[in-house]
Amino acid sequence: MNVTVIGTGYVGLVTGACLADAGNNVFCLDLDESKIARLNRGEIPIFEPGLEPIVRRNEEAGRLRFSTDVAASVAHGELQLIAVGTPPGEDGSADLQHVIAAARSIGRHMDGYKVVVTKSTVPVGTADKVKHAIIEEQKKRHLGSDFSVVSNPEFLKEGAAVEDFMRPDRIIVGSDDARAIAMLRSLYAPFQRNRERIIVMGVRSAELTKYAANAMLATRISFMNEVANLAEAIGADIEEVRRGIGSDPRIGYQFLYAGIGFGGSCFPKDVKALQRTAADAGKPLRVVNAVEEVNEAQKHVLGFKIRERFANQLRGKCIAVWGLAFKANTDDMREAPSLALVDDLVAAGATVRAYDPAAGKEAQKLFADSASITIVPHAMDALEGADALAIVTEWQEFRSPDFAAIKKALKTPAIFDGRNLYDPAALRAQGLEYYPIGRKQ
Ligand SMILES: NC(=O)c1ccc[n+]([C@@H]2O[C@H](COP(=O)([O-])OP(=O)(O)OC[C@H]3O[C@@H](n4cnc5c(N)ncnc54)[C@H](O)[C@@H]3O)[C@@H](O)[C@H]2O)c1
Repeated sequence: MNVTVIGTGYVGLVTGACLADAGNNVFCLDLDESKIARLNRGEIPIFEPGLEPIVRRNEEAGRLRFSTDVAASVAHGELQLIAVGTPPGEDGSADLQHVIAAARSIGRHMDGYKVVVTKSTVPVGTADKVKHAIIEEQKKRHLGSDFSVVSNPEFLKEGAAVEDFMRPDRIIVGSDDARAIAMLRSLYAPFQRNRERIIVMGVRSAELTKYAANAMLATRISFMNEVANLAEAIGADIEEVRRGIGSDPRIGYQFLYAGIGFGGSCFPKDVKALQRTAADAGKPLRVVNAVEEVNEAQKHVLGFKIRERFANQLRGKCIAVWGLAFKANTDDMREAPSLALVDDLVAAGATVRAYDPAAGKEAQKLFADSASITIVPHAMDALEGADALAIVTEWQEFRSPDFAAIKKALKTPAIFDGRNLYDPAALRAQGLEYYPIGRKQ
């Protein structure tokens, strides 16, 4: 099939590459000229495991191309997949300007039947707005080509995006148009060969499903973080509790890790957007409101522990930070808990030496103006002259470090672990002070 993907970020690039890999002829459009230039030079602008070879082989095969040419992109695909960003607006609602701009450009250039598919995470009612934007543009041209708007929210996880796209748990298709549904069935047929994964539903249900899924996952995290803080206060251990409740199949083990709060480009903004939708509908979601409140507080727990350990005397101290990305296997630092920790440390007068296996470049950009923060190229470099170590991202390479070397390098042998990576007894046996989240002291 001829497919156009609008927006070549985490979702658009993975979608375009994987659809091309299944044999489709894919045109990826982005308005960011430097991004398209990099892609056309063979560079992958994001860190996403497994993506590069797929992009390369499909470009070489002529099935995947990158361009800023809007008219050509609309002409190319009968399927137009919108995968542009929907960042939070000032009031927390999703900012739809990029989605509507993409819809307008489709309306401006379309000539013949199109299925317009929203993969971006968008609030309930957006499909109607997309439809109206296209109709308005068509009217200006005195044209009325037939088209359909489908909601097809994306559920891939950064860091495992290729795997998630190739082997999805489910594919939500929100539409009541048989022709459009048939086209999406055929688009996704290669990705569901061993069982049917498409769930067809109403457009509004599809739009809400994406927010409800992210809010549910965020709820599990905030719930565990609150229970962790309670466990710490009353002498229980959240890891023992996690295993105890995760073994119940009604609960399961996933998303039960306590830590320093969720971040990233999706959960925080989607939780806020759902709160906004609910408030506007006069049906506030009290559980979701609490999830956000707990998360905001949790991002400061590690900073609090560090200040407490040093009796609020952080001026002149240097804290090593391992991990800046909001989670492992990505370079994405949007709303990362590391940002709250670094802010807290710098506000308290400390300097920071930070290392991340993938987000170093992004961090250099973000912290370019701060003399208090140094980004270093290797994990052990962060410990040079440092008073203590804080662990913020659960990268594989932090799981079994040389504790003797850490102890030797730090002025105070203290590890503040926002991801509960280590065995508290083993660390203490090696003479390290260990401050995890919600574990028995
Ligand atoms: N990142 C994730 O893990 C993830 C997962 C599921 C869903 N989503 C959702 O998918 C959407 C995209 O997320 P992302 O992380 O890929 O965003 P992103 O910011 O990485 O990429 C968006 C891209 O769209 C481009 N763009 C903006 N307006 C455009 C236009 N009119 N025409 C062409 N290109 C345009 C931007 O230049 C940018 O390259 C969001 O709604 C997000 O909530 C993201």
